[in-house]
Amino acid sequence: MKRVFVFCVFIIFVAANAASAQESTVSKGLALTPPMGWNTWNKFACNVSDELVRGMADAMVKSGMKDAGYQYVVIDDCWQVSRDEHGNIVADPQRFPQGIKALADYVHSLGLKFGIYSDAGEKTCAGRPAGLGHEYQDALTYASWGVDYLKYDWCNTLDGQDAKASYANIRRALDASGRPIVLSICEWGKHQPWFWGAEVGGNLWRTTDDIQDRWGGKQKWPDGGCCSNGVMSILDEQVELYSYAGPGHWNDPDMLEVGNGGMTTTEYRAHFSLWAMLAAPLIAGNDLRNMTPEIREILTNKEVIAVDQDPLGRQGRRVWKDGDLEVWAKQMQDGSRAVILLNRGASEQPITLSWEQIGYPGHLSAGVRDLWAHKDLGKFSGKFSAPVVSHGVVVVRVTP
Ligand code: GLA
Repeated sequence: MKRVFVFCVFIIFVAANAASAQESTVSKGLALTPPMGWNTWNKFACNVSDELVRGMADAMVKSGMKDAGYQYVVIDDCWQVSRDEHGNIVADPQRFPQGIKALADYVHSLGLKFGIYSDAGEKTCAGRPAGLGHEYQDALTYASWGVDYLKYDWCNTLDGQDAKASYANIRRALDASGRPIVLSICEWGKHQPWFWGAEVGGNLWRTTDDIQDRWGGKQKWPDGGCCSNGVMSILDEQVELYSYAGPGHWNDPDMLEVGNGGMTTTEYRAHFSLWAMLAAPLIAGNDLRNMTPEIREILTNKEVIAVDQDPLGRQGRRVWKDGDLEVWAKQMQDGSRAVILLNRGASEQPITLSWEQIGYPGHLSAGVRDLWAHKDLGKFSGKFSAPVVSHGVVVVRVTP
């Protein structure tokens, strides 16, 4: 009798594992390089609509963003208004009169992918209905709409709600829908998701509080809560996280503010370059329908994007710092290094990169190419120096 019981337990165990192994293959192979796309939140917050998202998808194609590699068009918070009598999530009928599926179909018809937002708690951050207790139902709904990417937030969760278990649960629900859906974990780094995000099938996880369109510093929210971050304070929070990123699972220092008006063109170039160095998801957050040529040029710089998208999937790290001056380096698949010379200070300064900092012997002769000037600068031995303007970067690729 006892043996029969043990055998039954064994069979159940094997079957359960087989089922979960089967589920987990659904999302295998997603986000092998950091996801690239556009999201409504940074520029439009709750002002989302069918018209806006279609316009932005069109602009993504026309502006050259799609050609540069941007793919996901993501609606953030505020698309949802209620649940129907069966508990199904309902999109705002005024703002999305044709429903979400028709919008997703349109985005797909342009050769792009479609993403949406929900939250692991009882309500989203903007107070809309969220996912708690509806994970499997919502996952089926999203799959039936053709959703390819889900950003899952952490507002209004229950006291003591376990973050790792909650994100594991939504991943299982998404996989059970049968549709491969990128999972973007958004709990702002509160529970150190870099330790468990990959294990639960998260493809990217936010590492910080929300970004703000500002160069430096942290700022409190209007309600006194902490905090939103400028680009430099986010950067500082990434320094120790490089070992956790890799193909399929990325640190997410939040979406891009490039083009939203709060920083100079020089600062936006630095912001974009540093996000590429961090192998960060490149999710634009500006109005793509009316970009200046400078902003378009930043967002579509294919040589810098190639740093972000390098298939080796290494996150770059800070290899030298002296006050306001820093050197960051990223190992690339072909053995070359992408390097950023960053000047956080108020005046122009020369910065020297030494080969030792990037793991090359001093005598090695290597070609240096400037990825913003799109110019080969020649062969150098041992080191390379360049003047770097205030709040600026020089980005080079060093190839032995
Ligand atoms: C949180 C997230 C943001 C955005 C808003 C939406 O603050 O961190 O990225 O999704 O919620 O309400």
